Amino acid sequence: MKHLVVGASGQVGSHLLRALEESTHSVVGTYHTRSRGNLIPLNLEDPANIRALLAEVQPNVVWMPAALPDVDRCQREPELSHRVNVEAVQALASEATAFGARFIFYSTDYVFDGSQGPYLEDDAPNPLQVYGAHKLEAERWLIANIPEVLVIRTAWVYSQEDNPRNFTFRIKQQLASGQRLKAATDQVSTPTSAEDLALRSLKAEQERLSGILHLVGPTRLSRYEWTVSLAQEFGYSTDIVDPILTKEVGLAALRPLNGGLVTRWNG
Ligand SMILES: NC(=O)c1ccc[n+]([C@@H]2O[C@H](COP(=O)([O-])OP(=O)(O)OC[C@H]3O[C@@H](n4cnc5c(N)ncnc54)[C@H](OP(=O)(O)O)[C@@H]3O)[C@@H](O)[C@H]2O)c1
Repeated sequence: MKHLVVGASGQVGSHLLRALEESTHSVVGTYHTRSRGNLIPLNLEDPANIRALLAEVQPNVVWMPAALPDVDRCQREPELSHRVNVEAVQALASEATAFGARFIFYSTDYVFDGSQGPYLEDDAPNPLQVYGAHKLEAERWLIANIPEVLVIRTAWVYSQEDNPRNFTFRIKQQLASGQRLKAATDQVSTPTSAEDLALRSLKAEQERLSGILHLVGPTRLSRYEWTVSLAQEFGYSTDIVDPILTKEVGLAALRPLNGGLVTRWNG
């Protein structure tokens, strides 16, 4: 089996790539702006580039963690968000299907409004912001058009990597630079280890699951509680974190507050 990970330079994609390599699968990964290792370049906004990549790699399974997941940037640049988070998904999934490959897509708890989380797969979505609306549009298109597609929704992904896109690393950096931290007490979700997410994703693929699957960590807590526990873990006093409300942060896009997902699958 040959696997293609589109977005292997990202937090989720890099862990998927590693898990696939360690399970002795043949695997190829792509990057867009952050070259690393043996990754090959791909611009998802260029359909000819997508077609040429699939013709070259000839994968059996195409994984798509690639996205524009910067929620506030999507709010400010909705056309870019639509091109990457919707149109590119449609183009890649269509080409993958034409090549006879299985398609696996990553989505988010931001398809929900956070009025009564944590959410199950069949709860009704109601996104509050451009990012969530575009991820939902992509999900719905895939379910309607791509046979056997698997849509994996996850939330608040973290890892051990020294990468500014990783929340736990950002907290560590801010603490090391002597900053006090502020974290929202009213934003609740389910932090998810990128490593666990990758391993469970592989298992879901091996079991040929399809449709929508929620894959998150077992604990549900607020940003404030999470930040306090990280401060403790990194050897700082818990009173270095000031509690605030999400609306005080001044973000461009609304966040689901009472959010998070439930994983029912015990694989
Ligand atoms: N992180 C979270 O907390 C979280 C929570 C819920 C759901 N998710 C979902 O999980 C998935 C992965 O998120 P992540 O945290 O791994 O994101 P990430 O670290 O920002 O990675 C995004 C990946 O997409 C690639 N990419 C972006 N624009 C592209 C383009 N135009 N052409 C080709 N590749 C492009 C990036 O390439 P370069 O970096 O090389 O430019 C990178 O490899 C996303 O679908 C996201 O919606 C994430």
